Amino acid sequence: MNVIGFNAPGGPEVLRAFDIAEPAVGPNQVRVRVLAAAVNPTDVVTRNGAIHWAYVGVEPPFIPGWDAAGIVDDADPATGYVPGDEVLAIKVPVIEGGGTYAEKVVVAAESVTRLPRGHDFAAGSTVLMNGLTALQVLDNLEDLAGGVIAVTGGAGVLGGYVIELAKLNGFRVIADASARDRSLLETLGADVVVDRGPDVAAHIRRHAPGGVDALVDCAVLGNIVAPAVRAGGTYVAVRPAEVFGGAIDPEYDVKTETVWVGPDITRKPRLDYLSDLASTGGLTLRVARELPADDASEAHRLLEQGGVRGRLVLRF
Ligand SMILES: NC(=O)c1ccc[n+]([C@@H]2O[C@H](COP(=O)([O-])OP(=O)(O)OC[C@H]3O[C@@H](n4cnc5c(N)ncnc54)[C@H](OP(=O)(O)O)[C@@H]3O)[C@@H](O)[C@H]2O)c1
Repeated sequence: MNVIGFNAPGGPEVLRAFDIAEPAVGPNQVRVRVLAAAVNPTDVVTRNGAIHWAYVGVEPPFIPGWDAAGIVDDADPATGYVPGDEVLAIKVPVIEGGGTYAEKVVVAAESVTRLPRGHDFAAGSTVLMNGLTALQVLDNLEDLAGGVIAVTGGAGVLGGYVIELAKLNGFRVIADASARDRSLLETLGADVVVDRGPDVAAHIRRHAPGGVDALVDCAVLGNIVAPAVRAGGTYVAVRPAEVFGGAIDPEYDVKTETVWVGPDITRKPRLDYLSDLASTGGLTLRVARELPADDASEAHRLLEQGGVRGRLVLRF
């Protein structure tokens, strides 16, 4: 089968097609003929070597990709899935033979849910990784129900889902955006949209004078935005500071919570919830552009340039 991967980390150009044996289905597993694989920022750090230490003992080619949508082509009958089912699937690329930039992937039945009604495979492929992460963000805000939160990078895929889920959970949401993204964020439900940039913390404080109860830093701004959080409030990091740097200075009296989606990929009720929510319009799915899988290098170049609105999706 055709996969997109790399032998050694590097720039976007290291991504290329490989022909490898297709994976067999084992107990409690489902094999999906991938039709769409979302290109997430984490695929860039997989490719550029920033997390290559995690691949110790794994043989190349290294295959990025967490998110897939497609059609079941084989399954352990005990899973209840049958060939032809239209599904979403999620996979941690560092283990079990790589990620979803592949013609076929095998995943645990718990990492599969139905394609949301009314959406095509490209849109469907944008749901799980960031939807599960957004739900984990909300787990960290449970004690703050009804409070005020700020979201940076709200025009991004994760930020957009965080805004929508936070509103469903009764939070008041302040989000930052460039001028061109203001109306998008208002449509997603943000109560207040402030200008992004170096003064973002001051802009947020103008609408929450005592500071926000929590800040979800989807744009990874760190200390630039930490002053927006009230004393004793929560700063939610979406990238671990011990790997990527950017720890919040101790001078800010905030509690840092770091999310990582990995352990949640088999939380089947959450996958089903996200699919249902997308089916009923509770999650806004945004595809920036679909590209043939062979153009994966170009997709990574575009993502690294920034300014992509919605997800780039590879077609297999
Ligand atoms: N820990 C986990 O398990 C987990 C899971 C999912 C995602 N993540 C992380 O979450 C982050 C967001 O992911 P995503 O998929 O939402 O990415 P995305 O779709 O690329 O969105 C990022 C957004 O941040 C904006 N941004 C960049 N610099 C900014 C700045 N200085 N001020 C304000 N906004 C800025 C970008 O705007 P421009 O494009 O205009 O620059 C973009 O709208 C990534 O770092 C990703 O790796 C972590």
